[in-house]
Amino acid sequence: MEDGPLQVLTVATAPYPDQRPCSGGLRRRVGVFQGRRHYLHNFLQSVFSCIDLRDRQGCTVVVGGDGRFFNRTAMEVVVQMAAANGVGRLIVGCHGIMSTPAVSCAVRKYKAMGGIVLTASHRPGGPQGDFGVKFNSANGGPAQEGVTNKIYQICRTLEEFTICPGLRVDLGTLGRQEFDLENKFKPFTVEMVDSVESYANLLRNIFDFAALKELLSGEHRIRIRVDAMSGVMGPYVRRILCEELGAPAKSVVNCVPLEDFGGRRPDPNLTYAADLVDSMQDGRYDLGAAFDGDGDRNMILGRHGVFVTPSDSLAVIAANIFCIPYFQHTGVRGFARSMPTSAAVDKVAKATKIDLYETPVGWRFFGNLMDAGRLSLCGEESFGTGGDHIREKDGLWSVLAWLSILATRRQSVDDIVKDHWRKYGRNYYTRYDYKDVDLDAACELMEDLEMLLTDKSFVGQRFAVADNIYQVEQADNFEYTDPVDSTITRNQGLRIMFTNGSRIIYRLSGTGGVGATIRVYIDSYEKEDIFQDTQVMLAPLATIALKISQLHVRTGRSGPSMIT
Ligand code: G6P
Ligand code: ZN
Repeated sequence: MEDGPLQVLTVATAPYPDQRPCSGGLRRRVGVFQGRRHYLHNFLQSVFSCIDLRDRQGCTVVVGGDGRFFNRTAMEVVVQMAAANGVGRLIVGCHGIMSTPAVSCAVRKYKAMGGIVLTASHRPGGPQGDFGVKFNSANGGPAQEGVTNKIYQICRTLEEFTICPGLRVDLGTLGRQEFDLENKFKPFTVEMVDSVESYANLLRNIFDFAALKELLSGEHRIRIRVDAMSGVMGPYVRRILCEELGAPAKSVVNCVPLEDFGGRRPDPNLTYAADLVDSMQDGRYDLGAAFDGDGDRNMILGRHGVFVTPSDSLAVIAANIFCIPYFQHTGVRGFARSMPTSAAVDKVAKATKIDLYETPVGWRFFGNLMDAGRLSLCGEESFGTGGDHIREKDGLWSVLAWLSILATRRQSVDDIVKDHWRKYGRNYYTRYDYKDVDLDAACELMEDLEMLLTDKSFVGQRFAVADNIYQVEQADNFEYTDPVDSTITRNQGLRIMFTNGSRIIYRLSGTGGVGATIRVYIDSYEKEDIFQDTQVMLAPLATIALKISQLHVRTGRSGPSMIT
C-alpha cells in the first residue's frame, strides 16, 4: 500500500469525434492511441461514464488483454481511471493478459459490472499494428448497441476525465493489492488472477476430460497441432491441452504471447495460418487448430490440412452435440448462426426439430438469446463458434468440442465432415473480400444494389451461366427483430435468395481497416453432388454475383483481395 491516500485528479480534455466503437470495440492504429493526446483516456472515461453512477460505485470490473503492443501501457491507465471513477474492485489477468473467452467467464464468475478487453482481435500487432478497447456487459458478452451508442455520444462531448496518476499497480504478482484513495472510505482493490485456472475449471465442467486425456495421450492417441499464433492462447493451450490432457509439448506451437505476434497476423484462416496448413500436409497430425490474438476465433483442420469451413464446423458440432457432456445435462435450447454464415446448421436444426435463429453479424445478438434461455450453440462464418457457457465465441472450447466428437466417434475429421454431408447434404460456401475500397464508392455501390434488388421486378428474374439457371425467389436488406426484446436492427446486408436455396449476400465489413471492405458471401446447397471443389461449384454464382453488382467495374478491381 502507498503512503497516504492517492490523489484523484480531474483533467480537462477535448473530445474526438471519431470514437464510434464497432462490434469489436474501438480499434485504431497504435499510433493513434500513442500520438493523440488522451485518446485512450477519453474513450475509457466514456466507458466508465456510461455505467450509471449508482451501479459503478464499488462495483467489480474485469480487465483482460491479448498482450499486443501497448497492452501494458493501456492496462496501467485502465487501473488508474477505474480507481478514480469509483470502481471498487478490478479483476486483472496476470501481466495484463486474459483471453476474451476468459474475460467473459470471469465477468460471470465474479458477478462483475462488466469487462474491458484490450485487443484488436485478429488484426496485426506491434508498434505499426492495431490496438483496441472492447467493453463487455454484465452478462459477459459484447455490449448491446444501445450501450455502444451511449459510449459514443459521451465521447463526442467529453470535456474531462478523472484519474489516479500516482497509482502504481504490480501486474506481475498474483493476489490482492489495495490502494487508499482520497475521499474514499473503502480501499480500491486490484486482484491479479490466474485466468487460465478459472477458465480451465469452466471447461472441466463442460467436457469429459478423462475421455479427452485418453484421446490425446492414451494407447490409441491421436496427434494434434495447435498454433496459438503468438497471441493470448499460448498459456491456455499449454496448461489445458498439454499439462492437463497430456498432449505432447510439441503439439502446441507459438505459445509465447508476443507484442507483435511474431510479425504474423493472428488471424486463424488459410492465408494467415499458412504455416499450420503446411505442417499438416504430410498427414502427421489428425487435427490442426489455430486461434486469433484474443482467443475467441478458431480454425479447424483435418489430416493433410483439410479445411473445415467455420459454417460446417458449427453444423458438425450441432449434429454431434451430445458428445459434449454439458449439453447432455442442459439439453439443447436452440441453434443460431449469423445471416451470412452458410445454412448448413439449418439442416441439422430441421432434422432435430431444434429452433434455429438467424441473426445479424456480431456475437451480441446471440448473448441476448442465451440470456433468455433460448440458445445453446451458435457460430459465424468469421471463424467463431461457441456455446452458452459464456457470452463470447470461444476458440479453445471449439477445439475441445471437436476433440469430444473425435473421442466419441473414433473417426477422422475428414470422415466426420463427409458423413455429415452424406446425411444432411452440403452447403458449398465461399467469401470474397474486397479490401481498402474507397468508402464513398463502396457506399454508393451498396445503395445502388439495394435499389436494384428491392425493386419489384427483381423477384422472379433468371440468371444463367452456361447450363446453370438461377431464379430469384426473394431479395432484401436483412433486418432482424430480436425475439427477446423486440429491438429492430436494420441494414444488415443485402441478400439474394434463389429458388434452389442458393444465396448471394453483399455486406460492408464492420471491422475493416482503411476505407471499406466489401464482402460477398456465396452459399449453395447440394443434396447429392457433395464431393466437388468449392470454387468450381460456386463459379456460376460468383459470376452472377459480380454481374449483378458490377463490383469489378465499380471498384476498379479485377478480383477479390482474399477468398475464404
Ligand atoms: C468481429 C465480431 C464477430 C463478427 C466479425 C465480423 O470479429 O466479434 O462476431 O462476426 O467481427 O466482422 P466483419 O468484418 O465481417 O464485420
Ligand atoms: Zn478475436
